[in-house]
Amino acid sequence: MITADAYTFKILRSDRKKPDEKPRFETYRVKVIPGLTVLAVLMRIRDEIDGTLSFRSSCRSAVCGSCAMVINGRIDLACRTQVASFGTNTIILEPLPNMEIIKDLVVDMTPFWRMYEKVRPWLVRQAEDPGKEIEQSEEERSRIDQFVNCILCACCYGACPVITRDPEYLGPAALAKLERFILDSRDERSEDFLDTVNDERGVWGCDTVLRCIEACPKDVRPTDSIVGLRKALVKKKARQLLGMKK
Ligand code: SF4
Ligand code: SF4
Ligand code: FES
Repeated sequence: MITADAYTFKILRSDRKKPDEKPRFETYRVKVIPGLTVLAVLMRIRDEIDGTLSFRSSCRSAVCGSCAMVINGRIDLACRTQVASFGTNTIILEPLPNMEIIKDLVVDMTPFWRMYEKVRPWLVRQAEDPGKEIEQSEEERSRIDQFVNCILCACCYGACPVITRDPEYLGPAALAKLERFILDSRDERSEDFLDTVNDERGVWGCDTVLRCIEACPKDVRPTDSIVGLRKALVKKKARQLLGMKK
């Protein structure tokens, strides 16, 4: 027989429409059967206990990137985190850091998207549209494999200490996306596009403390991309100094 264990969920609640109310932890006691995810419990709390609780979700299977939050101090997706995985019966939920809270566990992701757009996260082509699929070899595709897995959940953005210091830092997701297109055999953007990230708010701002890699639920390694972009910039500079063409 499956038995349910009693859990205490403490959820940080606030509402930017009510600036006079201080953020507070609200406590919910729920019975949880083994295998239940944090998101499943959140849905139960909202549906059966407190309809005013706000959080984002959609796919429930770590695909849409909506349900990122801080779970017992660790940034992760609520839909892929099992309640029983912490070895404690108290689960503390807080919204993602580095973004303004709209309500409860829902943050305003505008800064994340603003940085993302800056790197032109799409295939840039110079040649005429061939009107058919632009093929890649297996080897060419393998260069971008890990980056294609990014679900834009902003776990890395919430984990990055540089963004906490400087909200104008491009951040790990945007820089990983730029590397994804630089490495893509079909992308024809000018090498000079790299200059847009050649400063302290781009690749040189990263402290390489790897928090983004730890936080990423899809095994993307943003720090590796930042190092890759730095190398590309150094090579570009060396070629310029030596008067060499690409
Ligand atoms: S490695 Fe760089 S981008 Fe990643 S979290 Fe650390 S400072 Fe931010
Ligand atoms: S790199 Fe990872 S953590 Fe960052 S947005 Fe993409 S999937 Fe999320
Ligand atoms: S609900 Fe889609 S990633 Fe969690």
